[in-house]
Amino acid sequence: MSVKMRKRMFTGLQPSGESLHIGNYLSAVKGVLALQDTHDCILCVVDYHAITVPYETESLRRRKLGIAAEYLAAGVDSNRVTMMVQSDVPEHTELAWLLGCLMPVPKFEQLPTYKDKKTRYGSASFGLLAYPILMAADILIYKAETVPVGKDQLPHLEFAREVARKFNNTFGQTFPEPQARLNEGAYIPSLTGKGAMAKSIAKGNINLSDDPDTIRKKLAQAVTDPARIRRRDPGEPTRCPVYTIHTCYTPQATLDEITQGCRSAAIGCLECKHILADGIVADLAPIQARREELLAHPEEVYEILAQGVAICRPLAQETLNEVRQKMGID
Ligand code: TYM
Repeated sequence: MSVKMRKRMFTGLQPSGESLHIGNYLSAVKGVLALQDTHDCILCVVDYHAITVPYETESLRRRKLGIAAEYLAAGVDSNRVTMMVQSDVPEHTELAWLLGCLMPVPKFEQLPTYKDKKTRYGSASFGLLAYPILMAADILIYKAETVPVGKDQLPHLEFAREVARKFNNTFGQTFPEPQARLNEGAYIPSLTGKGAMAKSIAKGNINLSDDPDTIRKKLAQAVTDPARIRRRDPGEPTRCPVYTIHTCYTPQATLDEITQGCRSAAIGCLECKHILADGIVADLAPIQARREELLAHPEEVYEILAQGVAICRPLAQETLNEVRQKMGID
């Protein structure tokens, strides 16, 4: 397939934690790995999104590099995927301003991430409110059609589609309506049993950087089916966060045994957790080794990000010029 005929894929991850967690990896990163042969892929470290809530400047610098290294360590091929940092392509923020002028304020206030983070931090910055328009601009500036994300991002994707429609209806056909692509691990629950794993809430996550002991300890403490109080109580896998993670790591035959063993109390939660820990540790070992190599030579990562900016800026400028012209700001 020639490069021109390929659909464009875009996705972004915030450098808001020291490491990606397995939810980010299974949904977004694996989503990219599945498309890197067939799509024109752009992968972005979205630092402007990460400053919409309180943060430390030094950690932010370190985390940007760490997340870019993790993408690569997880198998993203820099020869096939363009990778860059959002703030290095300032056209994203300019487009966000232009598109933001089309959208009514209540649309922003209704989005779940805004409401959740406003409650969690006790107040909200203007940046947090504007967050979804910057995400829409990230995608639309490359006229991307496919966006691999986890389930939590679906409301933002719907918002981006609405922005595209509004622009097209007002100023003429310009943007395709981007489609979310959900991968197998589109919702990875927190080990606390409450909500999803989230980079900004370290408790309850398994990180790509966790060593085998940490992974085993975290899983040992993980919440399982709340109705399974004693070893001999039968359990229900669909109520168990550990089982949900199993479905992404464990071969079907073993998974069937675990399902039956849990329902009949033939297998205990500890044994079930051991099997999962072995699977995760084995899957992460090569990623962690590669991550260490890359972090020992950060210049390689910075070079890949610089090449990404060189590819993305002309594309972004082209769309921005088209939008400015259609809006009468040329
Ligand atoms: P972020 O950084 O919170 O998460 C990165 C990706 O990981 C997915 N994810 C999960 N998937 C499964 N289970 C979980 N527990 C889990 N937690 C997070 C997210 O859905 C996401 O795909 N707003 C975005 C970043 C962004 C973006 C974009 C994404 C900015 N611009 C344009 C796509 C396109 C975010 O905060 O992701």
